[in-house]
Amino acid sequence: MADLVQDIDRTKWIMNTFPEWGTWLNEEIEEEVVPENHFAMWWLGNCGIWLKTPGGANLTMDLWCFRGKNTKKVKDMVPGHQMANMSGVRKLQPNLRNVPMVIDPFSINELDFCLASHIHSDHMDINVAAAIINNPKLDNVKFVGPYYCVEIWKKWGVPEERCIVVKPGDTIKHKDMEIVVLEGFDRTCLVTLPVKGAEEQGGSLKGLCPSDEEMDQKCVNYIFKTPGGNIYHGADSHFSIQFAKHGKQHDIDVVLNNYGENPVGIMDKMTSIDLLRMAESLRAKVVIPVHHDVWSNFQANADEILHLWRLRKDRLQYKFHPFLWEVGGKYVYPRDKDLIEYHHPRGFDDCFEHEPNVPFKCIL
Ligand SMILES: [Fe+2]
Ligand SMILES: [Fe+2]
Repeated sequence: MADLVQDIDRTKWIMNTFPEWGTWLNEEIEEEVVPENHFAMWWLGNCGIWLKTPGGANLTMDLWCFRGKNTKKVKDMVPGHQMANMSGVRKLQPNLRNVPMVIDPFSINELDFCLASHIHSDHMDINVAAAIINNPKLDNVKFVGPYYCVEIWKKWGVPEERCIVVKPGDTIKHKDMEIVVLEGFDRTCLVTLPVKGAEEQGGSLKGLCPSDEEMDQKCVNYIFKTPGGNIYHGADSHFSIQFAKHGKQHDIDVVLNNYGENPVGIMDKMTSIDLLRMAESLRAKVVIPVHHDVWSNFQANADEILHLWRLRKDRLQYKFHPFLWEVGGKYVYPRDKDLIEYHHPRGFDDCFEHEPNVPFKCIL
């Protein structure tokens, strides 16, 4: 029998509505049989991806299932927040989550690694950690990240033996996949606490010299080498000429990186031109912008990347093209290598396989 209004309360509404995609994507990922010499990848929102190989290796990177601001009652940022440090702001930033939750972390049944690229709170999630740690089917899952990410997981109660601290140069081999750890370039991390020496100065970062070692402990990039090709995930990296170094050291097929429209006074996200330069430097074949989906105050039109690419590709003889994705979408490479834009499956492909039930055919 259908519910009556008397049966519905706030908890029931939330349970019936959230996560918005239910277990749709969990089921799709689990059912996916990745063709030989391919990889399959899903965009889980923000920088989060799920990667699956023909040999059955499964990993998530930067899976984050939380939200942003949710009340106007708090007026100011917490002291020491990276944006407050960066530009001297105090007012709370209006970063509201803009995209639906497409995956249910508590319904994950198979996984090998849960990776984090860096310490920022939209790249690590206590809910995801809990969903993994409290699920006996996922006892095998290892949490992989730089030193400070592992410190955060440990603080949340993830046992140390479940964590792998990585630094640039490290590699992890598993089934038919290899994870290569590289320097990360989210320089916002350099003004994100903890910063060595800041506590002794009452939280002031003035004059404190960042080191490569400290950066490596906070932030890394990853390459995932699979039978279908190599994926470079730069996460929140700012533009760096070291992309050219990474492009000489490794063959890159697909690159993902953040993109967004920085509010005035902030330098945090890559612009369209940065992304094209990044893909060119890495000698990649496909570049996929991410992160622009999630925050209401960093929204950007990804069409700008396409326009700029079309303007420059002939003269600069680009060997890559952009792929504009959607959150919750699947990308199978190299099968989808020529796609420029994604559209979710549109359905109705079984039309007219059964007789329509209409009064007269002429209405159709
Ligand atoms: Fe981020
Ligand atoms: Fe970040």
